[in-house]
Amino acid sequence: MMALAANLTAIQMRIEAACARANRDPAAVTLLPVSKSQPPDAVRAIAGLGLNLFGESKVQEAKAKIPLCPGHLRWHMIGHLQTNKCRDAVELFDMIQSVDSLHLAQEINKRAEQSAKRMPLLLEVNLTAEARKFGYQPERLLSELQPINTLKRIEIQGLMTIAPWTLEPEKVRPFFRRLRELKEQCEQILGAPLPHLSMGMSGDFEVAIEERATMIRIGTALFGRRPQANTTKAAEKTDDRDVQAGDGRSAEVLREAHRLHRQNTGRMPGVDGSADGESDKSLFEPRPASASRHRARSSTDRHPQPDRL
Ligand SMILES: Cc1ncc(COP(=O)(O)O)c(C=O)c1O
Repeated sequence: MMALAANLTAIQMRIEAACARANRDPAAVTLLPVSKSQPPDAVRAIAGLGLNLFGESKVQEAKAKIPLCPGHLRWHMIGHLQTNKCRDAVELFDMIQSVDSLHLAQEINKRAEQSAKRMPLLLEVNLTAEARKFGYQPERLLSELQPINTLKRIEIQGLMTIAPWTLEPEKVRPFFRRLRELKEQCEQILGAPLPHLSMGMSGDFEVAIEERATMIRIGTALFGRRPQANTTKAAEKTDDRDVQAGDGRSAEVLREAHRLHRQNTGRMPGVDGSADGESDKSLFEPRPASASRHRARSSTDRHPQPDRL
């Protein structure tokens, strides 16, 4: 509990400092604790410190955990959502941050209608092209925006992204900037402001705030290392931020950790996790919305992505 309080204080100070640098009001940045893999006790402890909004990435886990947590808490879905889990997701969550297809939005809309609810959502964008499995390509996002917006039970509130994993947060600034620009494009298409940019995690949230994140999703910096659940035991090792602390593990162990990290989160390891240990600069150039498949492919060919190594 003491450690959690100290972690929270440290994060809040870092949020305030980042806001001061960017001339922003800290009240405009919502801290979303990511309680994925954390037990209800840990959620209760954080709730006891005054936070009441939590992020989960698996419907099944949330379904088991939420009834064991204080009833006043609110929950956001931040992980990949399958259409067959939409009914539960609509019941459990106050926002779904990971919508990446019209088909998924339609299913959420259908389930929301059945539950007589309106569902706020964020559209997840994959700014790293082929390197992540989930999230909209920018071109596709822009083309599906209007059809999603016509769905009666859905409320598009903004965009979400997961930046490449890196030891140097400054390297992911272009991704955050790109998401902000994309939000502006969406606002023009919709003719209405979108309140949210969900971007920034434990390793990069200060840069995200400087680039105008309104929601930062923080797991390990707040809760510490994620406990190892049975089925995801090996994979959870990959989120271990000791990697960032430089704990002296061998290159082989790091490579395996990054491989599992990608498997676990769908998030590519980025420059520090390239399988051959070499930098891959192409990973740190977000694609412009207008980039053609051809351009994306040729840039990938010049700089092999980790998935292909
Ligand atoms: C979508 C998403 N956001 C945020 C987080 C939190 O990451 P971190 O522990 O680096 O803060 C996770 C963790 O897996 C995640 O999957």
